Amino acid sequence: MPGMGHSLRAAALLAFVVLSILVSLLISSVQQFGAGIYHFSNATVAGDEEEFASLHGALIYQLNQRRKEIIPLLLFDGEETWESFYQRDQTQDSPMDYSLWNEITHGSRKAHMDEMDCQSLVDMQAVEVLGSGYTKLVVKVNLAGGQPVALKLVNEQGIDMGKCVEDFKDPRGCRELVSYKLKKEIVLLQRLQHPNVIKLKGHCAVDAGGRGGEGEKVTVILEQGNPLQMIQLLQSPWEDRFRVCLDLVRLLHFLSQSPLGSVALLDFQPRQFVTVSGELKLTDLDDASAEETSCQTHADCTLQFPHRNFTLPCSAQGVCEGLNEKRNIYNAYRYFFTYLLPHQAPPGFTHLVDHIMNSTGELKADINHTLEAFEHILLLYKSGLHLDNLPPSIIRDYTVMRGMGTSGDTEYRCWPSYSQQGCLLSVHSAREAAFICNSHSQCNSFTLTGQKTWTGRLLASFRSSFSHLVPDGTSEVYVKKTKAPETSTV
Ligand SMILES: Nc1ncnc2c1ncn2[C@@H]1O[C@H](COP(=O)(O)OP(=O)(O)OP(=O)(O)O)[C@@H](O)[C@H]1O
Ligand SMILES: *[C@@H]1O[C@H](CO)[C@@H](O)[C@H](O)[C@H]1NC(C)=O
Ligand SMILES: *[C@@H]1O[C@H](CO)[C@@H](O)[C@H](O)[C@H]1NC(C)=O
Ligand SMILES: *[C@@H]1O[C@H](CO)[C@@H](O)[C@H](O)[C@H]1NC(C)=O
Ligand SMILES: *[C@@H]1O[C@H](CO)[C@@H](O)[C@H](O)[C@H]1NC(C)=O
Repeated sequence: MPGMGHSLRAAALLAFVVLSILVSLLISSVQQFGAGIYHFSNATVAGDEEEFASLHGALIYQLNQRRKEIIPLLLFDGEETWESFYQRDQTQDSPMDYSLWNEITHGSRKAHMDEMDCQSLVDMQAVEVLGSGYTKLVVKVNLAGGQPVALKLVNEQGIDMGKCVEDFKDPRGCRELVSYKLKKEIVLLQRLQHPNVIKLKGHCAVDAGGRGGEGEKVTVILEQGNPLQMIQLLQSPWEDRFRVCLDLVRLLHFLSQSPLGSVALLDFQPRQFVTVSGELKLTDLDDASAEETSCQTHADCTLQFPHRNFTLPCSAQGVCEGLNEKRNIYNAYRYFFTYLLPHQAPPGFTHLVDHIMNSTGELKADINHTLEAFEHILLLYKSGLHLDNLPPSIIRDYTVMRGMGTSGDTEYRCWPSYSQQGCLLSVHSAREAAFICNSHSQCNSFTLTGQKTWTGRLLASFRSSFSHLVPDGTSEVYVKKTKAPETSTV
């Protein structure tokens, strides 16, 4: 394990060096804006011009396909169906598309969007690599004013670039092709703004070095987050795991009726998400799709997963009803809920959680009902209503000292504690804390610390003993009156 940490650190360091070079390239080209988007070098390797011409043509075809994918995302306003939109769109001239396109890629919208641009990146400091994937490299930087942001760039070492160069033998054209994923992401981030989608702060598109140079470089400037660590999350208190699931459901609810229609996340994995102050945010949008699936029969509307297939209804209008929404729900179930939700759920919630697990795992509920079920749990949790069956009398086993804390604690560990050293848990009230203390054989006193979790529950620390009481305006110490026998009053 430590070895793995080292090699990870080494990899990060290497990536950092690569990054520093990238960043300096970026800065050096900050002021150069290319006139057009497409340039292809005529300089070919070793003769075979025919092959080159056909490869070149294929690449241009790909570039056009990518562009065609993005333009509708800029223009669609959700007032009509995608089908009628496309029919209308085909009758329009493309020059208008180009001007809009230039607007987005060359940032003339920034003033109006109040966004950061290339200028914002001058004199920034790269801190570390936050992550990388098939397509993109994400770097943590501090801007000149000290503001921390995340930058997304084309991952030159990524699989996307590698495959493209292998297929088309044109690094410059490939960089442009791969950049389309960043551009698509920029457009989607602008159009799909939500608390659970990473915030777009701006972007910078420059043509580095003109003809024969490296081609266009696109940098997306984002709010900085922490990559979602599933292993770490599995060891976290249920309250934090529930938060991730709730945030995800709120996001999917938004996506099901977004300005672009119902959006499916085609590549739905924990690594597409980050957290910002504990809040879940989607960061990888290049595989989002608002396309509807057209159908003639119900059999055309199947959702296939490794262990489960579902067939959805084909509507009278010939589209698969709710396909994008249901795809998202099942992915949320299989990648998130199964790992995060049932485990250690508070006893008062097990039937509600079981119900959610079953209705999402069987795709019986739509996203509205799923969101309702989650918000219901949140409400109960915040209000402590699920604790109604705790006897009020248990608090009488304890003497309370307000405005006090403790020192010289003899601590014990419990699971899942908010602190590594001792036993720090969230509770709704002193009564719930007393109930927990009674159930831990080592516990003889606890403190309500005055700190709160994201739901507003109180953090309580449990211990075996302490040597002194110390004044502490924000906390209360509870001490067991008698050292009750193990088989006490519950
Ligand atoms: N704003 C951010 N703050 C912190 N980390 C981020 C941010 N955005 C992305 N990351 C990290 O960078 C990684 C790569 O980003 P992203 O998923 O967009 O690239 P990708 O090439 O599309 O990846 P994939 O191959 O998974 O599709 C993410 O998995 C995430 O851990
Ligand atoms: C590339 O080659 C084509 C045909 O051989 C020619 O018409 C074109 O002008 C060339 N472009 C450049 C940039 O040299
Ligand atoms: C799902 O459908 C595919 C294609 O029809 C089939 O090959 C596969 O076995 C099915 N999987 C399950 C789990 O039913
Ligand atoms: C849902 O409940 C039914 C009936 O109890 C059970 O057969 C099924 O396996 C459950 N499905 C899931 C995904 O939990
Ligand atoms: C889901 O809720 C939204 C409002 O939040 C509403 O506009 C929409 O019609 C609902 N969908 C269904 C299928 O009930």
